[in-house]
Amino acid sequence: MHLPFGIHCNNVFRFLITLVVAVSSCFVSEVCSSMLNGCNMFQGSWVYDESYPLYDSSKCPFVGGGFDCQRNGRPDKSYLKYRWSPTGFKIPSRGDAWKKADVVIFNTWHWWIHAKKLQPWDKIQEGNMTYKDLDRVVAFEKGLTTWSQWIDKNINHQTTQVYYLGISPSHYNGTEWGSPGKKTTCANQTTPTAGSVYPGGQISGQPVVRKVLHKMTSSVYLLDVTLLSQLRKDGHPSHYGNKEHKGVDCSHWCNAGVPDTWNHLFYASILPRHC
Ligand SMILES: *[C@@H]1O[C@H](CO)[C@@H](O)[C@H](O)[C@H]1NC(C)=O
Ligand SMILES: *[C@@H]1O[C@H](CO)[C@@H](O)[C@H](O)[C@H]1NC(C)=O
Ligand SMILES: *[C@@H]1O[C@H](CO)[C@@H](O)[C@H](O)[C@H]1NC(C)=O
Repeated sequence: MHLPFGIHCNNVFRFLITLVVAVSSCFVSEVCSSMLNGCNMFQGSWVYDESYPLYDSSKCPFVGGGFDCQRNGRPDKSYLKYRWSPTGFKIPSRGDAWKKADVVIFNTWHWWIHAKKLQPWDKIQEGNMTYKDLDRVVAFEKGLTTWSQWIDKNINHQTTQVYYLGISPSHYNGTEWGSPGKKTTCANQTTPTAGSVYPGGQISGQPVVRKVLHKMTSSVYLLDVTLLSQLRKDGHPSHYGNKEHKGVDCSHWCNAGVPDTWNHLFYASILPRHC
């Protein structure tokens, strides 16, 4: 299988703000708005595929130590074998008719909800008010709204396409996927949740993302990867985020793995007439 741009072992989504030179036929804002919720490539299920993984992480210099789960000693391999299969949509693997365009991709969530020991800040300031604490979903909406206003004011939509990468979920709570018990996390999970529905429902930030994007005057393409990632409780490093097997990381993702699918769908979204 020929692997197109974006499916190599580098991971553009590891940055909060990533500037890439890419290809787009999506200069006209009405086209982009109709694409926002017009594609169902973010709905589907994971299927076992013998031809996976798409690359060998041990031969990839871009995979960070915390994400190379095989090198860190993860014993199971089936998590590498799942291909995302959207409902009623075939992900293209090659494109043509390329035009140059700047694409900016934004994403934020996890640091908004970290509390107690993990909280990275002392106070929140809004105008001349400071808060010791604030409902995190409320704070997230305020922050994202500020971002959206900056985009509307500063980005030239004739030349630049704006993407928002949906929330990346963590798996610390087995009750969400029907394995209750304090101790059930992503550790020792070796298979995705079957089907197209995540029993734990949506993440509190998801409606906020949709609301803020819809209020914008610019059109932003939502790479809505939350559900497909929620279905991958097996995709995190768990004990294999380091060679010492310290801690349980159910928040980042192993590479090869789920972020490659994000890249693949991003690639599909910049191809002409994919909807
Ligand atoms: C805080 O800002 C508001 C609105 O800008 C202003 O009306 C108010 O006087 C300010 N308060 C103080 C204590 O500076
Ligand atoms: C775990 O998930 C369940 C089901 O979604 C939820 O009711 C519960 O509050 C969650 N527990 C924690 C500690 O977040
Ligand atoms: C995960 O598997 C290891 C090895 O089989 C075992 O020692 C450990 O108790 C398991 N952990 C959980 C949380 O089930």
